[in-house]
Amino acid sequence: MSNNFWKDLEKPFYILAPMEDVTDIVFRHVIAEAAAPDVYFTEFTNAASYSHAVGKEALRGRLLKSDDEHPIVAHIWGDEVSDFENISHGVKEMGYAGIDINMGCPAPNVFKHGRGAGLTLRFDVAADLISAAKVSGLPVSVKTRLGHAKVSEYKEWISHLLKQDIANLSVHLRTKVEMSKADPHYELIPDILALRDELAPDTLITINGDILTYTDGQKMVEEFGVDGIMIGRGVFRNPFAFEKIEKEHSHIELINLLKRHLDLYDHYTSIEPSLSKPLHRFFKIYIKEFKGAFDLRVELMQTKTTDDVRAVLAKFEASDYYKELKNA
Ligand SMILES: Cc1cc2nc3c(=O)[nH]c(=O)nc-3n(C[C@H](O)[C@H](O)[C@H](O)COP(=O)(O)O)c2cc1C
Repeated sequence: MSNNFWKDLEKPFYILAPMEDVTDIVFRHVIAEAAAPDVYFTEFTNAASYSHAVGKEALRGRLLKSDDEHPIVAHIWGDEVSDFENISHGVKEMGYAGIDINMGCPAPNVFKHGRGAGLTLRFDVAADLISAAKVSGLPVSVKTRLGHAKVSEYKEWISHLLKQDIANLSVHLRTKVEMSKADPHYELIPDILALRDELAPDTLITINGDILTYTDGQKMVEEFGVDGIMIGRGVFRNPFAFEKIEKEHSHIELINLLKRHLDLYDHYTSIEPSLSKPLHRFFKIYIKEFKGAFDLRVELMQTKTTDDVRAVLAKFEASDYYKELKNA
């Protein structure tokens, strides 16, 4: 085993994408139990906050992880070298396997300050942050987009990142301006791999954007030979997205997964109360596409606690709709 877990991964590897307000310790465990990825990323964590006592305290929930989540990478945003040095030491002490720098977030309050996707316009700062993140000895990776506005920017931007000796480069195959609207530019994958071979043969390339399942990822791997696949929204459509052999999953299985989500939520919020967040955005992952699903979701949206959710589910399980699901 090396200090760089990326080198020990079997290829192709599959990563659960970082998703703000979604991929906390609770949801990562739900996905791990449904069908586990090979690598986990935390939610978006602010390096500047980590450098201040109050801010650092506020990050406890975001950075909470458990030993069974391995390897797990701390996904960090910011633009100050000293903050990246601090947080790099901090997450190493916490047992993180790696540190990942966000260079792709298009949110206006991040971008306009030259952070996240704003770094695609600040080549020198991007390089300095990578060097700073390396101080603890953790392997450093970057998650980015093709560039700011024009697709052709990728040549310079991706080349620049590859010259910084990083362990893994995850590329969401769209520009910042394209947000999630345009089709991902899969046609550029061969060129990105050629740049890697020329400039940084040791850097792994992970591809991201509209890849919904492991099976979709396999097609990319077969066609292009990428090292890694990152899946984000695919888990909303199908929480079993990382399953190696795709199976049909019944509605009852999905309802049971929601129950598991509730238990995990109660467990981890009892350890770290700052993790508490509304669960409403998750209901549509589990409750969909069956007779009575819409009304059930409407009822669930009115709940305030996990026990309220359990009570609504118990009522549904006594209904004819549920009997129909069982007999399906
Ligand atoms: C709700 C949500 C939150 C996201 N938060 C982050 C984030 O914090 N950091 C990041 O790099 N990307 C974030 N993303 C982008 C995803 O990681 C991913 O790059 C994007 O959704 C494209 O991949 P997909 O088509 O597999 O979802 C987020 C996406 C969604 C839908």
